[in-house]
Amino acid sequence: MSDWPIPVTENEPLAPHTTFRVGGAARLYAEPETDDELAAILRAARDRSVRVLRLGGGSNLLVADEGVDALVIRLGNGFNREAVDEDGLLRLGAATPLPKALREAEHHGLSGLEPWAAIPGTMGGAAAMNAGSPSLGILDFAEEIRLVDADGATTLRRGEWTYGYRDGGAGGRWVTEVALRLTPGDPAAIREQTINAAMEKRVSQPLSERSAGCVFRNPPGQSAGRLLDQAGVKNARRGGAAVSGKHANFIVNREDATAADILGLADEMREAVRRAHGIELAFELTVWK
Ligand code: EPU
Repeated sequence: MSDWPIPVTENEPLAPHTTFRVGGAARLYAEPETDDELAAILRAARDRSVRVLRLGGGSNLLVADEGVDALVIRLGNGFNREAVDEDGLLRLGAATPLPKALREAEHHGLSGLEPWAAIPGTMGGAAAMNAGSPSLGILDFAEEIRLVDADGATTLRRGEWTYGYRDGGAGGRWVTEVALRLTPGDPAAIREQTINAAMEKRVSQPLSERSAGCVFRNPPGQSAGRLLDQAGVKNARRGGAAVSGKHANFIVNREDATAADILGLADEMREAVRRAHGIELAFELTVWK
């Protein structure tokens, strides 16, 4: 398409960009390669009043079957980079896949990221939602984050922004780079811890199936998975979607599930917990309609 500052394609299928492998197309789609290109496309979208949606690794995302009337932006390979700087910080571009970030940390003898083993997605997505366990988020290691919006780029240092459980604190801005302060360690020991963390996760989560991780946030002090399990939803089905028998907060795409199947099943799960416990669960999953 002409008159955008960088190439924009039409009707980009989004299902292949998600780990659920579900959903329709984006009306418009672009992959900026630099902070300047990102700011320029965001400005162009703002000038045209076009809705913008942020695509990361697609591992926490459900796209509606009808697709989205929006410009979907995914950071290009120019943001897939890593380096250890002169202060010993591991600098990761936002499009760096988390598994690659873990390999780089191990290679440089830097410990801390091991609990993020076997988690898909990108560094930018993980930072935007402060991915991790309820007690430790990936931003707990962040010394700096670089943020971009239509007005340009800024770098914030620790203490200059706030974040919380499943909230990276970037608001509407894009995280394009994160600098992590990790602890020096022996690469072999780091590798062993990474393998152990992945094995533990494999026991309690359906990692080999198509899912988007946990569907609901944990209510304060509780596990949504446990509440759902107690409410009896494991193995419930709707169309091609099912609640995992391993972890009750995971929906898996078993047989060509549609987004409507998954959303319907999520409603049933929420209702079951409301009835059993009187608690209203909120989506952790990002849903694009
Ligand atoms: N539990 C059950 N039944 C289930 C699931 C869990 O009884 O079906 C129990 C477990 O036995 C355990 C407790 O609930 O005693 C907590 O379970 P788990 O360790 O799996 O942690 P979680 O609170 O359910 C959170 C994150 C996960 C993350 C794990 C491990 C949220 C919503 N989920 O789950 O993140 O992997 O901790 O760190 O915060 C994700 O974000 O997509 C995700 C999967």
